[in-house]
Amino acid sequence: MKRVATLIILLGVATIVGIGGRIAWDHFQEPESIGSPVAGALIGGPFELVDHTGKTVTQDDFKGKFMLIYFGYTYCPDVCPTELQDMTAALDALGDKADRIQPIFITVDPQRDTPELMAEYVANFYPGMIGLTGTEEQIAAAAKAYRIYYAKVAEDENDPYYLMDHSSIIYLMDEGGKLAAYFNSKMSPEDMAKAIADRL
Ligand code: NI
Repeated sequence: MKRVATLIILLGVATIVGIGGRIAWDHFQEPESIGSPVAGALIGGPFELVDHTGKTVTQDDFKGKFMLIYFGYTYCPDVCPTELQDMTAALDALGDKADRIQPIFITVDPQRDTPELMAEYVANFYPGMIGLTGTEEQIAAAAKAYRIYYAKVAEDENDPYYLMDHSSIIYLMDEGGKLAAYFNSKMSPEDMAKAIADRL
């Protein structure tokens, strides 16, 4: 009888741990549209990258402005262009308020995304959007600071048309470089604009 009771307790604990883990995993996979301040403490930090004009920039170059940051790559077939279009639509909806925000696209594919290519690419989206690339190390450090996962998907190492697997999250950082909100692809540009306006 004692054994059965122990087994039931163990099963109960296993279930709770399992559910907890599942919730944590779902959270990691699908962040809520607007992040909590708790998560904010872990996101962001110093970076040194190269902008689409070839100039080295750090987070200090954007001090005093909100940053709307998205990590992706120019060869991305669908997700990145959609997210950057949504970002652009949200900024358009904000009108003059958007002047306080610097939209930034950071590549996770520095091997192909040269400053020249980034310049061509960001020109398709919001005027004033900055494209950032850098060395493999610089990109790895920035992605780590922003908790962005990315990996090359290539069966053949020499295939020039490889894809990149990557997290898809839009971060709003405040004037001091702290996370103010984050958005996933489920959020409409209208709702994103409202959420951003609330935080300006
Ligand atoms: Ni993408």
